Amino acid sequence: IANLSASDLEGKRVLVRVDFNVPMDGGKITDDTRIRAALPTINELTSKGAKVILCSHMGRPKGEVKDSLRLTAVGVRLSELLGKNVVKCDDCIGDAVTAAVNGLNNGDVALLENLRFYKEEEANDAEFAKKLASNADLYVNDAFGTAHRAHASTEGVTHHLSTSVAGFLIEKELEFLQKAIEAPKRPLVAIIGGSKVSSKIGVIETLLEKCDKLIIGGGMIFTFYKARGLAVGKSLVEEDKLELAKALEAKAKERGVEFLLPTDVVVADNFAPDANAQTVAVENIPDGWMGLDIGPDAIKTFQDALADCGSVIWNGPMGVFEFDKFAQGTEAIAHTLAGLTEGGTITIIGGGDSVAAVEKVGVAEKMSHISTGGGASLELLEGKVLPGIAALNEA
Ligand code: 3PG
Repeated sequence: IANLSASDLEGKRVLVRVDFNVPMDGGKITDDTRIRAALPTINELTSKGAKVILCSHMGRPKGEVKDSLRLTAVGVRLSELLGKNVVKCDDCIGDAVTAAVNGLNNGDVALLENLRFYKEEEANDAEFAKKLASNADLYVNDAFGTAHRAHASTEGVTHHLSTSVAGFLIEKELEFLQKAIEAPKRPLVAIIGGSKVSSKIGVIETLLEKCDKLIIGGGMIFTFYKARGLAVGKSLVEEDKLELAKALEAKAKERGVEFLLPTDVVVADNFAPDANAQTVAVENIPDGWMGLDIGPDAIKTFQDALADCGSVIWNGPMGVFEFDKFAQGTEAIAHTLAGLTEGGTITIIGGGDSVAAVEKVGVAEKMSHISTGGGASLELLEGKVLPGIAALNEA
């Protein structure tokens, strides 16, 4: 986008795919990060005199019009953030959209309705893509969070417009996430948490090829312990992933990657915020109890392992941080990373729950980069080609 000059853009209708799939509660936006993340691109385009036509999905309406998934509140918030009017359309294709676009002056901004009200969006239907493209001269994709989907608005449209480029957000996400695995400042430490090994296999496998140390936390540790032959009480275990857990640990050893599992855990007598809790060594998990957080020794070991690192990639919480009683591991890691950033370490938070965690702790501003993509950042770290990005490269 930086390569597009005012003469390329002035008076041009620019279709911009953004990811405004923001969390909502009762019609109110509970986190506007994704809207704010799109502002640099929107401002760049409007300042160069483009007519900006924003499009996004919200939720998974599967081709049905759902009032609760309209982008109306997003339009209001966007207009506040931009400090200017946003023309909100009630559809994303058709005559009303064409009329609204024809009414735009240079520097104006329009927001189309939820793309997924049409099932053709997710089906990457060529006719639908053509209709979307028909109101524009150029295409900019800045929807990093949706770049792992080959949909009409992320992939299909690029076949119908002569210029298709990435916006600032996509460029920034790629710069941090790709560099983190391809040319990292070393030592590179990966911290992977979350409840299931199964959802993180790909990322663990790829990171094992790239990182110097791998720290594992969250519910998935119990699958690793069980694979080692330890008793884990009532803790969450993926029985069908025991062999895989063993293989991942063996691979780490083979590659000389330091593989760190917590040495102690906080166990609870049931899954509840007010459950009885105690801290035990991982060899002593009592029968009938379940692990919900990493313990203080583990926190200390992880902090020591992180002390000398050049960069860190963190994906997934250390425990059930939604319950204050079991949030200490996750909070300690968040604080540790915030401190490391100040000392010059590159800290990257890859999407989803770990982002919610650093926000809960109030240290989000202190990280080098917080990804706006959950699935997209995971797939990128897994080394997969993201169709939304590939389409731009091809175009
Ligand atoms: C996300 O929130 O991860 C993106 O907006 C993609 O949403 P999806 O998983 O429904 O495609």
